[in-house]
Amino acid sequence: MPTPIVAPSLLAADHGDFAGGIRAIEEAGLGWVHLDIMDGHFVPNISFGPQVVAALRPRTKLHFDVHLMLTHPDRFVTAFAQAGAERLTVHVEADHDMTRTLAAIKAAGLQAGVAMNPDTDPRRLLPYLDAVDLALCMTVFPGFGGQAFIPAALESVRFLAEERQRRGSGFRLEVDGGVNAETGLRCRAAGADTLVAGTAFFQAPDRRSFV
Ligand code: DX5
Ligand code: ZN
Repeated sequence: MPTPIVAPSLLAADHGDFAGGIRAIEEAGLGWVHLDIMDGHFVPNISFGPQVVAALRPRTKLHFDVHLMLTHPDRFVTAFAQAGAERLTVHVEADHDMTRTLAAIKAAGLQAGVAMNPDTDPRRLLPYLDAVDLALCMTVFPGFGGQAFIPAALESVRFLAEERQRRGSGFRLEVDGGVNAETGLRCRAAGADTLVAGTAFFQAPDRRSFV
């Protein structure tokens, strides 16, 4: 079981001061930042792109956990690799050849992740689990922070945790959306080890409580 990690999502930070959001994560003693990239097509919202990622890269040593909520993620692998991403996670529901996209991510020297929406059958991830370092189970429908956690998504977390055990794999199992102190415990109990927290982190009175 990979070591537990909390990855604050910059989507919930002040979009007029992303560098301040990065500093808040560092000051909380955390090592990852989750960067939610949205194209307004795969999800009904637009967030930020490779130029913002590139601007933040030289300011921090945080691990850039980039979540591509894009219809054509394959078209942006090079741009985010050059921007300084260390990991790119792509959705199984997007319009691309997943095997080829994962190969391109790894050819660019990055870690690769596969993601699914809460209503997707987790069996759709099975063909890719041996090719990734991370599997992401969305616990909200992607597009916006601050949404309510979808408990039914825990079934997929349990399914993937059992599959990881059966294969003897070491991929990270990440959850994302509505994760807070209470729902995070339920995710951990279901087998998740990597918790994305946007609102819960940036609106926490004591951010160090996430360590
Ligand atoms: C939603 C994003 C999530 C979101 C999490 O599409 O993928 O990372 O920012 O935000 P909270 O933790 O606020 O639900
Ligand atoms: Zn995300």
